[in-house]
Amino acid sequence: NSSNIPVIAIDGPTASGKGTVAQQVAKRLGYHYLDSGALYRLVGLASFKRGISTASESDLIPIAKNLNVIFQEDRVILDGEDVSDQIRQEEMGKRASEVAVHTGVRQALVARQQAFRQKPGLVADGRDMASVIFTDAVTKVFLTASAEARADRRYKQLIAKGFSANIDVLLQDLRDRDARDANRSQSPLKAVEGAHHLDTTSMTIEEAVNQVLKWHQASQN
Ligand code: DC
Repeated sequence: NSSNIPVIAIDGPTASGKGTVAQQVAKRLGYHYLDSGALYRLVGLASFKRGISTASESDLIPIAKNLNVIFQEDRVILDGEDVSDQIRQEEMGKRASEVAVHTGVRQALVARQQAFRQKPGLVADGRDMASVIFTDAVTKVFLTASAEARADRRYKQLIAKGFSANIDVLLQDLRDRDARDANRSQSPLKAVEGAHHLDTTSMTIEEAVNQVLKWHQASQN
C-alpha cells in the first residue's frame, strides 16, 4: 500500500521553474522525482516520429499506453535512444500541450505516473499532480511567476544552450500554452484547495526550494 508514502505535488505553468525546484527538493530529501510533463513531451515526440497528428486521439492513445521509456538520472531514453534534448525543444513543448488535451491520452498515463510513488517519498511536478494524480499528496504547491519573468528565464536558458531565441515569440508561445493548459476541459491547470501558493517572480531557486521544504516539514508534524 503506497498511500503512506509522502508525495509533494508541485503544479504550475510552463517555465515557472517548478522542474528545477522539484528536482532540488527531491535531492535534498532523498525522494524520487517525477517530471510528468516529460511523459506528454514523449507522446508528442513519439507521435511526431510516426507522422501522427496531435489532433488524432485514437492514434495517440496506444502510443501513450506503450511508451517504451527509461528515466536514467536526468536522461530520458525512448526506444533505446537518448531523447533528453529533443523533448526539451519548444516544438515538443507545444506538441505536449496539444496531446495533453485528450482524455484518453491522460488516462493512459495515470498508472505510469502513480508507479513513481516509491519509498521514501516522491516529488512530482506537472499541472494536475495535486488535482488528479496524487490527490492525497501531503504537501501541495502551486508555483507561478509572471509571464514576463518566465519568458525571460526561458530565453536565458535557450541562449545558454547556444540556441537562438526571440523574447517576443517566446512570450506569445508561453501565453498560448498557458491558455491551452488552463482552459481545457480535462484536468486544467488550477490550484486545488489547500495548496500553498508560491510566486517565484522575484525569488531565487534556493529561496523557493527552502520554502517548499519548510511547508513539507510543517505538514509532517
Ligand atoms: O511541464 P512541461 O512544460 O514539460 O509540460 C509540457 C506540456 O505537457 C504542458 O504544456 C501541458 C502538458 N502537461 C499536462 O497536461 N499535465 C501534466 N501533469 C504535465 C504536463
